[in-house]
Amino acid sequence: MTAAKSKRITPTSTRRRTLQATSDAAVDITRLLDLVAAFPRQTIGVVGDFVLDEFVSGEISRVSREAPVLILRHRRSESYPGGAANAVNNLAELGARVLPVGVLGNDEGGRKLLDHFRRKRINVSGILRAHDWSTTTKTRYLAGWTHTTEQQVLRVDREPHANISARIEKAVARKARQVASGADAILVSDYGLGAVSPALAKTLKAKHLTLDSRYRLLEYRDAGITAATPNEPEVEAAYQSRVGTDTAKLDELGQRALRDLNLEALLVTRGKDGMAVFERSRPPLHIPIYGSDAPVDVTGAGDTVIAVFTLALAAGASYLEAAHLANYAGGIVVMKRRTATVTRAELEAALRQDATAQR
Ligand SMILES: Nc1ncnc2c1ncn2[C@@H]1O[C@H](COP(=O)(O)OP(=O)(O)OP(=O)(O)O)[C@@H](O)[C@H]1O
Ligand SMILES: [Mg+2]
Repeated sequence: MTAAKSKRITPTSTRRRTLQATSDAAVDITRLLDLVAAFPRQTIGVVGDFVLDEFVSGEISRVSREAPVLILRHRRSESYPGGAANAVNNLAELGARVLPVGVLGNDEGGRKLLDHFRRKRINVSGILRAHDWSTTTKTRYLAGWTHTTEQQVLRVDREPHANISARIEKAVARKARQVASGADAILVSDYGLGAVSPALAKTLKAKHLTLDSRYRLLEYRDAGITAATPNEPEVEAAYQSRVGTDTAKLDELGQRALRDLNLEALLVTRGKDGMAVFERSRPPLHIPIYGSDAPVDVTGAGDTVIAVFTLALAAGASYLEAAHLANYAGGIVVMKRRTATVTRAELEAALRQDATAQR
């Protein structure tokens, strides 16, 4: 997204709040720009569950005579890296050297993901292909008329039928340890598909070991995770509790997760309500969203957030600075269709625009 475009979509009230929060937390935009400039010097390992996000779109042509369903005239099929692969893709766009570790099936989904990575010149030596494994593919069917916005009408998921074999699990662990020894940070992306586990994370030695876990946040309690980026529903599920609009409740759960997981920092993403940053030594800090509260597509925004957060930490950011950078990136990526990425240039443009507005 260009600076000019983001200006157009940004309501003034939201922008003022963003700047306010920025100055309250004493985050200097020049410093954030310096951190972004250091992104290309960082090596980030990503260990986790790779997913292929597919989008099949068509024009509504008529109602079927076989069943009361719409017939779509196929317009196009597109695929994008999703899950851990989306974090990898974002890191590459941000200029980092990225080393993905995980498993793909010997199938079309696996081939497409490898093609995506190779096109971006990403080192794929940490990716294993397993014959007895299927690449998780999430296919969305989108229907629309020529001049209307497409709407998702169906999603079909293909997932592995069995657990990953012990042999592959060991091979992944070996690759992950190799990568960890040469990386500035390791990002663990656990979508519950089996490529990564708390036991594996525990064997990884890294200065920054960040975690996004969809289903088992608290199982990582002894895994040596330094920071985690759950969304609010994941925190609620972990403690079987409800936050709603009760920020005191969120603060309580966040502090609890920080202690239970023995983290240095916890970043809770809250969709349109922004983010909350928890650190041991200071009170929780709430950051409002950057940009518009009318997103175009929120698919995979959490992956962009953890990618930027981890990369910023590797570049020497404080947790608060990393959270602010991730917040800018989250605000930018939700304005793009499909599973999208944020480039280093886009992040810099957003920062420069805010710097100008502050003057
Ligand atoms: N409705 C929204 N309006 C504005 N920004 C949003 C919205 N939803 C998400 N974002 C941005 O994206 C970030 C991450 O979104 P969210 O909290 O939904 O993560 P998530 O649920 O983990 O995403 P994922 O589906 O990738 O797992 C938010 O912190 C915010 O910056
Ligand atoms: Mg998420």
